Amino acid sequence: MRIFSGIQPSGAPHLGNYLGAIQSWVQSQNSEAFFCVVDLHSLTQEISPDDLRRQTLELTAALIACGIDPDVCTLFVQSHVPYHAQMNWLLECVASYGELTRMVAFKDKSSRQEAQRAGLLTYPVLMAADILLYKTESVPVGDDQKQHLELTREIAERFNNRYGQTFVVPEFSKPAVAARVMDLQEPSRKMSKSVSSPLGKLDIFDSAEDIEKKIKKAVTDTDGEVRYDWETKPGLSNLLDIFASFSGEPPSHVAERYERYGDLKTDLAQLVISSLEPIAQRYKALLGDPAELEKLMARGAEKAAAVSRPVYESAARAMGLS
Ligand code: AMP
Ligand code: TRP
Repeated sequence: MRIFSGIQPSGAPHLGNYLGAIQSWVQSQNSEAFFCVVDLHSLTQEISPDDLRRQTLELTAALIACGIDPDVCTLFVQSHVPYHAQMNWLLECVASYGELTRMVAFKDKSSRQEAQRAGLLTYPVLMAADILLYKTESVPVGDDQKQHLELTREIAERFNNRYGQTFVVPEFSKPAVAARVMDLQEPSRKMSKSVSSPLGKLDIFDSAEDIEKKIKKAVTDTDGEVRYDWETKPGLSNLLDIFASFSGEPPSHVAERYERYGDLKTDLAQLVISSLEPIAQRYKALLGDPAELEKLMARGAEKAAAVSRPVYESAARAMGLS
């Protein structure tokens, strides 16, 4: 099964990225899997050139540390393969302005920004280009990306109808538990790199002390009963989901073992710390050898280009470019 997914190099991955996306990538990786550090997408927000370069390298290292194996699948950086930007233009002439302004992520991000970059509006078209270039069948992403994937399917179908069968129409695939990790301080909102407060967001390379502090201070409720119930207990259910994702059991089973919030939080902190520690160690070792990382990235880009180039060329030809 051909799968493709992407993640922006806009800061250290947090628990939402790890449980909602990266962990399922690791489980699903095979020789037909493509994972992409989408540095072009990060240009839609304010980011310094030095930060973008450093974070791209760091995120590549983080993904490998989390278990993505560049010998098994293809791991690469979006801007290293020129067909993404080229295909983006072709698809911008297939997508419509109206459907782009209807994207919830656009409405949300643009309302929080003063000078809105045009790329913020066309961002989902670049994502569609990423996916369609690889004849992708399945796209493992968090719930928040579902609308973008629907747009990708729409674009693929419209292109195929207008210019002849060219693209595979991809399916959305979501991880079994913790598809959506919520902010630890405001459980009605998803954990997010840009919006969450420092206490609301747990980064996968946070120190053991910080992890413990953030979990202890996570907002719950006052009725004191440990029960998995998103309706009335979102804060606690979020913690149970996180626990369940790491321990591999249903969240309601975790809930049955605890009578007090404090005990659940103590055990959860230990579980998170011991699960993330080996990842942090591998991450440090990888960043200690940037030349090797560069080599891995170059090899990934070569493998990705070999697959995406013919797809780009057939789309360009179908549209009348010679
Ligand atoms: P981003 O940080 O927006 O580049 O997201 C990278 C990946 O992580 C995407 O697949 C998102 O759907 C996923 N993701 C981001 N935030 C969360 C969250 N709070 N819960 C679950 N998945 C998330
Ligand atoms: N838009 C995604 C996000 O913000 C990242 C992304 C870019 C992506 N291209 C992709 C995800 C292709 C899946 C497939 O999280």
